[in-house]
Amino acid sequence: MNDNKIFITGANGQLGTALRKKYPQARHADINELDITNRDSVAKFDWSSIDVIVNAAAFTNVDEAETLEGRITAWSVNAIALSFLSEAATNHGITLVHISSDYVFDGSQKIHTENEIFSPLSVYGASKAAGDLLAATTPQHYILRTSWVIGEGKNFVKTMLDLAQKNISPTVVSDQIGRLTFTSELVRAIDHLLSNNCAYGTYNVTNSGDSMSWADITRRIFQIIDRNDLKVTDITTDIYYEGKQGIAQRPLLSTLDLTKIHSTGFESRDWNDDLLEYIRKETS
Ligand SMILES: NC(=O)c1ccc[n+]([C@@H]2O[C@H](COP(=O)([O-])OP(=O)(O)OC[C@H]3O[C@@H](n4cnc5c(N)ncnc54)[C@H](OP(=O)(O)O)[C@@H]3O)[C@@H](O)[C@H]2O)c1
Repeated sequence: MNDNKIFITGANGQLGTALRKKYPQARHADINELDITNRDSVAKFDWSSIDVIVNAAAFTNVDEAETLEGRITAWSVNAIALSFLSEAATNHGITLVHISSDYVFDGSQKIHTENEIFSPLSVYGASKAAGDLLAATTPQHYILRTSWVIGEGKNFVKTMLDLAQKNISPTVVSDQIGRLTFTSELVRAIDHLLSNNCAYGTYNVTNSGDSMSWADITRRIFQIIDRNDLKVTDITTDIYYEGKQGIAQRPLLSTLDLTKIHSTGFESRDWNDDLLEYIRKETS
């Protein structure tokens, strides 16, 4: 891929940061430089030298999305903006790469294929599902559906490492099951799809490896940092959030089927290996 033909939106987020490292010559912007919810800004932007837009921008605060203000922002960034990006991509013959979420499903299926019908439980999930539908109207598009993203920024692994440092034994949800996805894995998959001219469409992309609960992942994290002295107590999602207002409903089963991306020759990395590497970097 020729880096300088790539444009990254949401460049300061977890995925945006990883993309900028992979493609140092790529053009990029965050909300201050290009607000993707502003139709005029997107339409008037000079796309002439761009072949690929990677949309790493999103409103990812799933609980905030349940508030009056948050639901408008979620719909604006995760859904409506995709009609503007799709329009620009279509008009300029650009390939649009967009990132979807396990939250487009209700989590009742043990494993989710790309063809499963949307069944979002939350405002965030519904806004992401609408964004997928709009992104898919672009003639040249890749939608990567992912779950439990870990990169540079605020994320679950960092939160657990912080708790360990404070000698806190946490109570962690044990009935949400899925796989971690390191931003490095998403970047590898994006690069693979683009470099190999894979067929346009939707691809599930997470790390491979066993599906586990957040509680079991926490135990793995504590094992890696040699803090088996800390006790992880299991709790169900319902009890964890009992009495709290404005909490988005989460899908319980988030495992995404990786058969389709593997059929293109992509080899997934086990999340355990990336977790080990990630923690080594974070704690060195
Ligand atoms: N995080 C997860 O666990 C997870 C799971 C499944 C799927 N995904 C999807 O994966 C993708 C990447 O997620 P991430 O974790 O990297 O998200 P992130 O860290 O929250 O980054 C999103 C970025 O988008 C920017 N942004 C927000 N509104 C914008 C606007 N109107 N115009 C331009 N930029 C805007 C944000 O800027 P500000 O910070 O300034 O608002 C932020 O830098 C998203 O599509 C997300 O829905 C994430």
